[in-house]
Amino acid sequence: MESMDFHTAKALLDWQIDLGATEAIGDVPVNRYEVQLAPVKQAAAPAPASAMAAAVDPVAEAEQAARNAGSLEALQAALAAFEHCELKLGARNLVFSDGVPAARVMIIGEAPGRDEDREGRPFVGRAGQLLDRMLAAIAMSRDAARNPVYITNVLPWRPPQNRDPAPDEIAMMRPFLERHVALADPDVLVLMGNISCQAVLGKRGITRLRGQWQSAFGKPVLPMFHPAYLLRNPAAKAQAWADLLALKSKLNDG
Ligand code: URA
Repeated sequence: MESMDFHTAKALLDWQIDLGATEAIGDVPVNRYEVQLAPVKQAAAPAPASAMAAAVDPVAEAEQAARNAGSLEALQAALAAFEHCELKLGARNLVFSDGVPAARVMIIGEAPGRDEDREGRPFVGRAGQLLDRMLAAIAMSRDAARNPVYITNVLPWRPPQNRDPAPDEIAMMRPFLERHVALADPDVLVLMGNISCQAVLGKRGITRLRGQWQSAFGKPVLPMFHPAYLLRNPAAKAQAWADLLALKSKLNDG
C-alpha cells in the first residue's frame, strides 16, 4: 500500500471506527476455531489510589515545561520535546520564530502553512510575503539592519490541511507562547487575525478588535487583520494601513 501521512491514516481509521469496525483485519485469514482463548486471570487487587496514574494534563505539562525554559533556545528545545500535541506527528518541522529576538515588535501569527512547515520558518509563503511588504511600508523588516521585528505563531506545527487550530491545541500552546513573549520581552505585540486574538486575549472578532490597543502578557497589544485575510479581501488593506501607522506612532511615542 502507498504510504500515507499520519493525519490521513488517522482520519481513515476514525472513519472506519465510526462505521462500526471493532477489529483490524490482517493480511492473512484467521481460523477462529483454532484460536486459543487466553486463560481467565484472577482479577488483581485494585491499586491504592495514590498509585493510580493520574491522567496527564497537557496544559499543566506545558506550563511546567515553559516555566523551566530559561532562554529562547531552551524554550524551542522544550517545545520540540513536548509530546502531547498530535499536530507534531504530522508536521515536517517545528516552526519556532524568525527575525530578531531583541526587536521592539513581536508579531504573533496563527500556525505554519505548507511553505512554513517545509522551511521551518514562519510567514514565508504568500501571506508572509505580503507581511514583509506591509512591514516595508513602515520601514520595518525581519533584518537586524532595518527596524527589526520578531515573528512567531500560536502553534509551532502545521495543522492538517491548514484547518483552524482546535481549542485544546491553543490551550496547550499558550503557556509556551506566554513564555516566548516574556523571554523576547518586546515593547509591543501585534496579533495577526482571530486565532492569535483567541490565544492571547481570549476573544475573537477581528473586525471589531483590529486597531484597538489592548493589554496582555504585560504588553500593549495591537490586533490586526491577518495577511492571508488581506489577500482574500484587498479592500481591507486600507484598515491594515491605518493599523500599521498606529503601530509606528506607538513606537515613536515610546
Ligand atoms: N500564516 C500564519 O499565521 N503563520 C505563518 O507562519 C504562515 C501563515
